[in-house]
Amino acid sequence: MWGVGHSSFQVEGNLKDSDWRAWTHSPGKIVDATDAEVATDFWNRFDEDFELASQLGANTFRISIAWERIEPARGHWDKEALDHYEKIIEACRAKGLEPVVTLHHFALPLWLANAGGLCAEDFAKEFADYAAYVVERLARGKALVKWWMTFNEPLVMVNMGYLTGEWPPGERDPALAMLASRNLVRAHIEAVRRLRALKLREEIRISIAQHWRDFQPKRSWNPLDRAAAFYLHEVFNRNFVRAVMTGRNIWWMPGGKLHAEVLELPEGLPTLDYLGINYYGRMIAGVTTQAPFLSVEEGSGEKTDLGWEMCPSSLRVVLKDAASYGLPILISENGLADAKDQYRERFIETHLESLREAMGDGVTLLGYLHWSLTDNFEWAFGLKPRFGLVEVDYETMTRKPRPSFAFYRDLIQKFRSES
Ligand code: FCB
Repeated sequence: MWGVGHSSFQVEGNLKDSDWRAWTHSPGKIVDATDAEVATDFWNRFDEDFELASQLGANTFRISIAWERIEPARGHWDKEALDHYEKIIEACRAKGLEPVVTLHHFALPLWLANAGGLCAEDFAKEFADYAAYVVERLARGKALVKWWMTFNEPLVMVNMGYLTGEWPPGERDPALAMLASRNLVRAHIEAVRRLRALKLREEIRISIAQHWRDFQPKRSWNPLDRAAAFYLHEVFNRNFVRAVMTGRNIWWMPGGKLHAEVLELPEGLPTLDYLGINYYGRMIAGVTTQAPFLSVEEGSGEKTDLGWEMCPSSLRVVLKDAASYGLPILISENGLADAKDQYRERFIETHLESLREAMGDGVTLLGYLHWSLTDNFEWAFGLKPRFGLVEVDYETMTRKPRPSFAFYRDLIQKFRSES
């Protein structure tokens, strides 16, 4: 699978009933004070973007469904919104692109956010109802979506929303972070139970997109730094995946109480059919003298426009580790903010080399989806960071491929002709 990906809130525009929309309108939350009212207007311009992806030689496109469109008020299902998504997916297929569909990518319906969001007592049931409603329709009929993801980066959401407070709901509370984490596990498992009960075609594949970092100790000789790196690796990378594979829903975060429970898995089986990995680099971990006694920083290598270090070599490390679950892996995101397009070609090339090495190590790789086809709304950073192979002029909505677009196209062509 060769392709690109994006998410609904970041591109569609006009997502009125979203918690993220409310967040973008509270002063000081978005670094460049922009919003996603129009974003790239993908909701109306999807044909143009799928055409670009097909010119890229891609065969796969990852999109997401906005829960807030499908269920704008509790128990009120908007069939027209679902019709429109079906149209989008048909248009995707018409360009020879296999859709990979994420059910939840960070944004929540406002009614649910107001009722407790990820910490709401009935979060798992609400999510499973929504998932079943969407999948029942889009895994059948004209859309016939085979590749599904329940959640995008559950731990990133927990960290940003409940520990750093930089994202909605803006909490800084380890107890809530733990509650949100275990509710996300429950919600994933509950959704898979409901989806399996729909008796869909056999080839349906369900996963999550897990943000996975290579945590390295700041001072490798220091046992405390090593312990910090190990702890972060366990909690941030492995815990969620382990929980949905085995049912052991165990969480501990500094400042919170240990929570442990064993959940029954639907049909007694692990609830991931493949593993989506979003890879953005390594992290340097250490200890500090102040609560929560952990420090996490970027490495010293070259940086993207957002100050994120580019570290292709750690992708191989991440994949070797992630492969220990025995699942085939899809790189569901990998990319960089680079407005001048000065690093993107080298970035793609070196990350693909790392992938090749990982395959040499025995990792079963399903494919690589670059983040992103077009520039889009980068959450708390707003519209300023430029993640696109294609530049978007937000005044005119004109799309213009950057030089790296042709570079990636040639690489795809080369690799596709090899396999
Ligand atoms: C990932 C998110 C994605 C995008 C990239 C840059 O963490 O899943 O939506 O913002 O980072």
